[in-house]
Amino acid sequence: MSSGQQPTLTYAMIKPDAFSRQNEIIDVIKENDFKIVQMRQMKCSPEKLALFYKEHEGKPFFSSLVSFMTSGPIVAMVLSKVDAVAEWRKLIGPTNSLVAKETQPNTIRARFGTDGQCNAVHGSATPSDARREINFFFPNMVVDPLPTAAESQSYLSMHVIPLLSEGLLELCKVKPEDPTEWLGAWLLEHNPNQPAIKTS
Ligand code: RTP
Ligand code: MG
Repeated sequence: MSSGQQPTLTYAMIKPDAFSRQNEIIDVIKENDFKIVQMRQMKCSPEKLALFYKEHEGKPFFSSLVSFMTSGPIVAMVLSKVDAVAEWRKLIGPTNSLVAKETQPNTIRARFGTDGQCNAVHGSATPSDARREINFFFPNMVVDPLPTAAESQSYLSMHVIPLLSEGLLELCKVKPEDPTEWLGAWLLEHNPNQPAIKTS
């Protein structure tokens, strides 16, 4: 996930205690300039949830957390914004909704949560957690940013154009009957990512 002014991704989740207020929470998300890139509702099995929260395995609140999170449906979301991970954590507020109500009453956990466990929403703690959590709930999603135009240009001129030019030059020399098929086979033979096996 890139930084700077490029939008990045985070994983967000509306927990079972706030499921019935999802429309209000989604309004807050949009008002704060997050884009909802992916969204799905689901009810998780205890096994899946335990795996998701595996960093907390062994802590006193772990089994209660798994029961709470599987007590009803959740909304899993991928959000996009510049500095999405930190921005979403800022918007949701402190873990304990009672503390949030006291100290940061405008945050989502203050407005929609109840206490230290029923705190309405989840947010990835770091960009690498975000990557893992997005892959966990949206396995088909591409998390890495697409290369910029300059990066693509540089890749093409370093790795693609020289090889293609060499192949086309060879093609002109050989003048095969079927140039497309010939070039395809030549490219496969000269694939720079394939180890060259030489028999002596
Ligand atoms: P989350 O992962 O859900 O975004 O929350 P967080 O990073 O702010 O807090 P974390 O320490 O990761 O805790 C995960 C969730 O476990 C529940 N919890 N209960 N009873 C307790 O002492 C306790 N502590 C944590 C909360 O639902 C918390 O969000
Ligand atoms: Mg956490």
